[in-house]
Amino acid sequence: MHNTAFAALGLNWRYLAFEVHPDNLRAAIAGAKAMQFAGLNLTVPHKLLAFGMVDALDESAKTWGAVNTIRFEGRNAGGAWLPLRQFGVPSRRLRDGQTQLAKPPEGGTPNEIRAHGFNTDAEAIVTALREDLKVELHGAKVLLLGAGGAGRTAALRLASENVAELFLVNRTQSKADAVAGEIKKQFPFVSVTVGYPKTEVDLIVNATSLGLKPGDASPLDEKQFSLRQARAVYDMIYNPPETALLKAAKAAGCKTANGLGMLLHQGARAFEIWTGKPAPLDVMRRALEQSIYGH
Ligand code: ATR
Repeated sequence: MHNTAFAALGLNWRYLAFEVHPDNLRAAIAGAKAMQFAGLNLTVPHKLLAFGMVDALDESAKTWGAVNTIRFEGRNAGGAWLPLRQFGVPSRRLRDGQTQLAKPPEGGTPNEIRAHGFNTDAEAIVTALREDLKVELHGAKVLLLGAGGAGRTAALRLASENVAELFLVNRTQSKADAVAGEIKKQFPFVSVTVGYPKTEVDLIVNATSLGLKPGDASPLDEKQFSLRQARAVYDMIYNPPETALLKAAKAAGCKTANGLGMLLHQGARAFEIWTGKPAPLDVMRRALEQSIYGH
């Protein structure tokens, strides 16, 4: 989605994937900094580790305790930190008749470069829920499955939207207890319960990884909670496009959506952080659908 978006905006940028062992994460970030990358995205298990490895944290990263996006910034003569794109590109003639980039305002190479950490996941959750399911989160009753990295961020972000009640279910209950404890501390007005609800809910969100592999069971124990008691179901998994949970939810008459919107919106926000330009959302969505679903 990023490469298609760069092309759509005429930017001579590339988005590349690197597999990095967690032991080498610090060295990888330092390497990207030395090579003057515009930025990085990080995924499991690096989001929590990177939190302690960047030089500055944006509010979004501080609030959610994880970094999924880094922007490299240089210090200008006046002492201000600016994205590296605002400094000079290496003075190398472009071949193939490519257009030379407009002269950047700062010019030259900064003496000092820092890694600035952001989190674009938390915002993407609520954007996708609103866009794809049209749910009103304020005052909603929500059952959240999963209390790993994604589950914790979703729980805190939903609490910050003033949902009325949050039910947390996780295979390892102690992790759900820990997240419930954090919510009680930070959002005392949200009623939080570990375990399945006894009443109807407006929304179920799956933040477990159950459903990623073919043949995976549904993360919802229907003996404990019937899908007929839920209005909408969101599965953060986008591949396969329809998990066992979503299939059962559709059959039970729930409104459903998979995690493609979340993937899109966390990427779109990262794109804007790096480039300083509005993300071409439609182009990015089409690129995602094409590459993941092949149509
Ligand atoms: P992520 O960053 O994607 O959330 P994670 O932190 O590893 O990744 O979390 C994975 C989530 O899926 C956890 O809630 C995990 O439950 P545990 O905390 O008990 O490990 C859940 N999960 C993974 N495999 C599962 C399975 N087979 N059954 C039920 N839950 C599972």
